[in-house]
Amino acid sequence: MLPTLESPPPGVAEDWTLPQDWQRFTPDQHAVWDMLCERQAAAMGDYAAEAFLHGLSILDLSGSGIPRLSELNQQLGTATGWQLVAVPGVIPNHAFFRHLAARRFPVANKLRSLDNLAYSEEPDMFHDIFGHVPMLTNPVFADFMQAWAQAGLRAEGLGASDFLGRLYLHTVEFGLVAEGGQLRAYGAGLLSSLAETTHAITSPDARRITLDIGRVMRTDYHFDRFQESYFVVDSFDELLRVTAETDFASLYVELSALPLLKSGEATASDVVYHAG
Ligand code: CO
Repeated sequence: MLPTLESPPPGVAEDWTLPQDWQRFTPDQHAVWDMLCERQAAAMGDYAAEAFLHGLSILDLSGSGIPRLSELNQQLGTATGWQLVAVPGVIPNHAFFRHLAARRFPVANKLRSLDNLAYSEEPDMFHDIFGHVPMLTNPVFADFMQAWAQAGLRAEGLGASDFLGRLYLHTVEFGLVAEGGQLRAYGAGLLSSLAETTHAITSPDARRITLDIGRVMRTDYHFDRFQESYFVVDSFDELLRVTAETDFASLYVELSALPLLKSGEATASDVVYHAG
């Protein structure tokens, strides 16, 4: 067995899943969920990728409290064959790669409180469901996520998980897509935070760079404040193609010889995205 950082706590299975136990959510928690969803869905119309908005309409997340994962799984299963599983929170890389490689997306089984609506220190179920699941209804994006996780499992054997982690962060969490000459957000870290979405799309201080997979994998990121650079793709087909076709093993060797780039740092080969 491969070593993990720690073992699952009591009540949590070997693969880090646990029952959602929907009955235990309180009326206050359902109200927090509804408030978050309504606010965020209303704000996202001008900023979210078309695929995300389409996913939201399929999943129907607003207005009836915290969703049952079993119900979302019916919609998601029909759309792309992905399934959601509940987990206690952040889980070790290996378990995360394994779930995604099998088209299962782990959802933190906890929700931020009313006092902390705008922000959750660790990803919570609002981030995981509202931010990530709509994109998983898109067949191309769904295949990209699986291809990423398969590369992740191979990267572990090469000691290169951090490179794949940065690719995930700059795409799945903070990615932008150019749609009809307009920048739109598809990353869950953006779509679950209106403030950072606005910053990423409209701020003159944010750098927007056309995605180059090697460049992305050596670019560091901030945990505790907005990113300074965002990476733009032309389409999810391109994201899937580059992830499926890249010879990661040789790329890791090449990248290991280069220094990490800071979030706001520029390189001579950057192609800066210009709207229109
Ligand atoms: Co996330």
